[in-house]
Amino acid sequence: MSDPIDREVQQHGENSIQRELFGTRVGFILAAVGSAVGLGNMWRFPYRVSEGGGAAFVVLYVVLTLVLGIPLMLSEFAVGRRTRLSPVGAFKREGGGAWPLVGFLGVLTGFLILSYYSVIAGWVVRYGIEGMLFGFAADPGARFEQVTSGFAPILYHIAFMSLTVVIVMGGVQKGIEKASLLLMPALFSIVLGLAVWAFTLDGSGAGYGYYLTPSFAELLNPTTLAEAAGQAFFSLSLGMGTMLTFASYLSRQENLNREAATIAASDFGVAFVAGLVVFPVIAALGLQSQVSASTVGALFIALPGAFVELGVAGRIVGIAFFFALTVGAVTSAVSLLEVVTASLIDEFKISRKPATIGSGIVIALVGLIPALSLDALGLIDTLTEWFLAIGALMVTLFVGWRMRDPASEMLEGASGLFANIVPAMLFFVRWLMPPIIAFVVFWTGRNFIGTLVTTFLG
Ligand code: PHE
Repeated sequence: MSDPIDREVQQHGENSIQRELFGTRVGFILAAVGSAVGLGNMWRFPYRVSEGGGAAFVVLYVVLTLVLGIPLMLSEFAVGRRTRLSPVGAFKREGGGAWPLVGFLGVLTGFLILSYYSVIAGWVVRYGIEGMLFGFAADPGARFEQVTSGFAPILYHIAFMSLTVVIVMGGVQKGIEKASLLLMPALFSIVLGLAVWAFTLDGSGAGYGYYLTPSFAELLNPTTLAEAAGQAFFSLSLGMGTMLTFASYLSRQENLNREAATIAASDFGVAFVAGLVVFPVIAALGLQSQVSASTVGALFIALPGAFVELGVAGRIVGIAFFFALTVGAVTSAVSLLEVVTASLIDEFKISRKPATIGSGIVIALVGLIPALSLDALGLIDTLTEWFLAIGALMVTLFVGWRMRDPASEMLEGASGLFANIVPAMLFFVRWLMPPIIAFVVFWTGRNFIGTLVTTFLG
């Protein structure tokens, strides 16, 4: 590829001179997949599946990824690449009026998600390190209590935030792109290897049965729909401007439709294969009831419980699992911090280093609250799920009804089938998605208020 920055300046004049672009197509894809694949795939997806009726949830999830996820990702890409700005500036330039508020909401959401995401990532790192040094604890429930209370979660949270800050400080090519090129292939191979190993376990069959037998009655439950959609937004990093920001570093020759499809497929692939690890392992030890206990900690108790029962092999596999989870968490955290950092850079013309360190410190400080209280963590999680849905609704309304000629941006760099589907995508964005997402906004908002009430009164 010729120098991407020069090419952009020739094509788009002054305004892109200082904007660093991704160096390669693969680099961009792996960075976006790195953002998408994270705790959402390997920790949240399996427990949502067990709450939402097994395979029926999985089927619904795939459908929603196709009808909501991919068009929404394409929409964010179009806004980001057209404006070459992070969310606040992008909505200001293309929309004017009150639209920049959508960008602010995105930055706030990224800020809040990272504050608790980093706390959970800290537990993951600790499980990995302790598994390596001492093995997994014989009483996983008690161990989980220890890992999540006292002063230590704060230290692990701060260590994790520091690592994230260091990568983001490196910028787009030397930080985000390089880390993703290195880490994502490692994650894919570990997760695949673990699934193969899980297949060899005695008694794992019941796990596949549970995971892959659909109980379609659950699909009639509106909560299942809202949870599957919320999970799709979270897992695909949509609704807060992450994909928008990444696309602002993308050359106009890239095919946005093809990239959106590739990223969504990889994200689902990892979540699905993570299920092929988690369910068989847990079934082999008869621990199913623990996962569907539907709390943040369920998987953190059931899995280490299984690893300890499985002796030396369990220990090695457990370490690999927590390592893969750490890798996924780092690349996702990087993308969350990038949204906040890029907004400071674009809006206040601060240089990258102070912008990254400054936002990293503030987020780390806010994260002290979820680090000290699991209730607070759960509350921020449900609040941000609501915010992501609101953001997603706003993006579809924006691209469907406000943005000037979104099709031209979506078509730029696209050809063949990928160009032919643009009208269908826009039809979805205009007519099909707003009512569905509006329902998700209503339902996740209700869920947040319910959690708020039970946290403070229950
Ligand atoms: N997609 C990430 C995950 O599944 C989380 C995330 C959400 C990252 C929103 C960026 C933006 O873990």
